[in-house]
This record gives sequence, C-alpha cells and structure tokens, in this order.
Amino acid sequence: MNFIPYGRQHIDNQDIKIVSKALKQSLITTGIYVKKFENQIKKLLQSKFAISCSSGTAGLHLALKAINTQKGDIIIMPAINFVAVYSICKMQGAKVFLADVDPLTGQMTPKTLTECIQKNKLKKIKSIITMYLGGYPENIIEFYNIKKKYKCFLIEDACHAFGAKYKFKNKNIYIGSCKHSDLAVFSFHPVKTITSGEGGVVTTNNKFLASRVLLLKSHGIKRKKNKHWEYNIKEFGFNYRLSDINCALGLRQLSKIKKFINYRHQIYKNYQKFLSKNIQIILPAYNNKNEPAFHLFLISLKNNKKLIKEKLFNFLKTNKILAQYHYIPIYRFTFFEKKINYNQFPNSEHYFKNSLSLPIFYNLSLKNQIYIFKKINLFFKSFK
Ligand SMILES: Cc1ncc(COP(=O)(O)O)c(C=O)c1O
Repeated sequence: MNFIPYGRQHIDNQDIKIVSKALKQSLITTGIYVKKFENQIKKLLQSKFAISCSSGTAGLHLALKAINTQKGDIIIMPAINFVAVYSICKMQGAKVFLADVDPLTGQMTPKTLTECIQKNKLKKIKSIITMYLGGYPENIIEFYNIKKKYKCFLIEDACHAFGAKYKFKNKNIYIGSCKHSDLAVFSFHPVKTITSGEGGVVTTNNKFLASRVLLLKSHGIKRKKNKHWEYNIKEFGFNYRLSDINCALGLRQLSKIKKFINYRHQIYKNYQKFLSKNIQIILPAYNNKNEPAFHLFLISLKNNKKLIKEKLFNFLKTNKILAQYHYIPIYRFTFFEKKINYNQFPNSEHYFKNSLSLPIFYNLSLKNQIYIFKKINLFFKSFK
C-alpha cells in the first residue's frame, strides 16, 4: 500500500490533452490560455479583474506591492498561518501584528482581531490579511466592517478557499468576488481544490489595484498600445507570469471545480459521521450557512494528554497515513521572533497542541477513508 498523503491533485486524460494542445500553440506564455483562464475565473467568481500569477506566494507579493506596503506599515494577520504572507510583509519592512485565533477553527476572529488592535494600541493600520484556514470562510462581513472602521485595506489570503462561498443577504457569494475585500489571492498548488501545477490568481474590483498587479507582475513594463517595440519602465517589478501550459491545465481543472468540491464535501461528511462518535475528538463548528472548499479536514484532540498528538501522528505514519500540522504558529519560528511569550496566544497554543489535519482529496477512495477511520479509532482504544 502506498502512503496516503493529506492532499494531492487529480489529473485525468482531458487535462493531459489540453496541456498537449497548449504546448502546440505558437505562444506558450502570455497566450490565449492565460486569457481564457483569467476570464473564466472572473466569470465564476464575479470579480471585475482576475490576474494569474506564478504562485499564491507571488500573488500575495503582488497584492502587498499593489497597496504600496512600505517600511513601518502596520499589518495584522492570524498567528496560525502559512509562512508566505508573513515573510513577504517582513521583507517589505512592515510591522506585522499576529492576532490570536479560535482554538478549534484555527482562524482569526473579529474578536481576536479587535483584541490585537486594542492590546497593541494600533491606530494607522495599512492592511488586515484574513486567511480561511482549511477553506472554511468565516466572518467575512464582520472583517469587512472592521476594515471600514479602521479605513485600511483588507486582503484575503484565500489560498485554501478557491470555490468556497459565503452567505450575504440570502445570496451565496464566491470568495474572490471581492465584494467585501480589496484583493483576494488564491493558490493552484497541487493540493488545492484545483491545480495548474504551480500557480495563483489575484482578484479585485479596483481598477487601480488591478493595473498595479498587472504592471508589477511583468517587470513594471508599460508597452505602447500600437507600437509593441516601444516600452517604458514604470517601477521595479518581477516576472510572476503564469505560462499557457499551466493556464491550460488550470482552465480544464476549473471546469471540474463543483465535482471536486462535492466529493471533498462527501469525505467531510463521512469523517463527521465516523469521528463524531469518537469522544476523544472535537470537530470545529463552522458557520453552516457558508459553502466551504473543504481543502483540509481539521480535528482537535480533546484529551490533552502529553504527546498524544505526536503519538497519533506516528501511529498514522506507521500505518501509511500522512496527517499534517496546519500550521505551526508563526511566532514559534525563532528565525522570525526571538523573544516571544507564547502565553500571549493562548488559543493558538491550544490549536497547535491539539489540532491536526487528516487526508482529504478527490482521489481518496471510500475504502481508504474507512481504513483511516478504523486506524484512528484503533489508536484511541489504547487511550481509554
Ligand atoms: C494560506 C496560504 N497562503 C499562501 C500560500 C502560498 O501559495 P503557493 O504555494 O501557491 O505559493 C499557501 C500555500 O499552500 C497557503 O496555504
């Protein structure tokens, strides 16, 4: 039996066919598949702009540059986070404030965000960066109201949440529509709901921000409309373009987003059914009006016995199941934060000590799901 990872891509023959077709085009970058992919994303998410880029990390860099993040700017984000956005902010010299999270969902909440602002007496905030851990959108409107109150930007690090929707006035709205944010960033890494190999997209409804993302993504070069040989450099930029080969794959995957998410939802329901009987496990309660992307399946261990999480990891690994941490709190990396009192983040510590994510992906067969449930229950029998 092969190892069961926590996530992986699903590639079918149609994906392979479209990539071969893209390879036969005269332009294999900046060509028709890039445009098609971006247009389809815009159409699905109902955003005015969708700009593809080489990764979610590149997208976050572009978003932060687009809002003109400068040295000393104040940025707030959750303490339980992937390293990408934190690193970029720090590299740009921003002052990053980490907000504590909900102990079960691992997400920053309006309460922990407000506490972070008040405790640190923050006044002039440049941007709040939300993150829907595991692809479960929570508190969108509340975050938007806080953004309005502090007159700052709101960037959604929605790298886990492509295809997720939230409820607003009886309507289900896609994350990335940017109806309640300035910019949203997604990743198309292979473990995500859809993949383009590597890749990402930035969405916004703001023409100015979109033009900045577009400019910075391609060396800050501005070309003359009817004279392709004439161009000017407007500012320092990057090459964060996504090729047509990647976009062709992304385009084909996009057409299967509903199927992928429905299957992930089914796995989620199966886990819920089996694991809710296990009194040693707590499942985070999400807002059931929203429609998640089900990128991760998070569980929290009730019985806070020493090293139980570590033992469970090892037990699962011995049985060829690769559970994962999402994530080690940012403040725990000594490279970033030298002297930090972990007690400032009681809920993040609770989350870190008790939570882990179990395999969830389109190719996870029912047989393997049952195998995972059985192994987990077997493990807990020894802890009664
Ligand atoms: C929350 C979050 N933000 C940003 C990223 C970066 O995305 P990418 O790997 O496409 O650069 C990831 C990647 O997994 C992520 O999980």
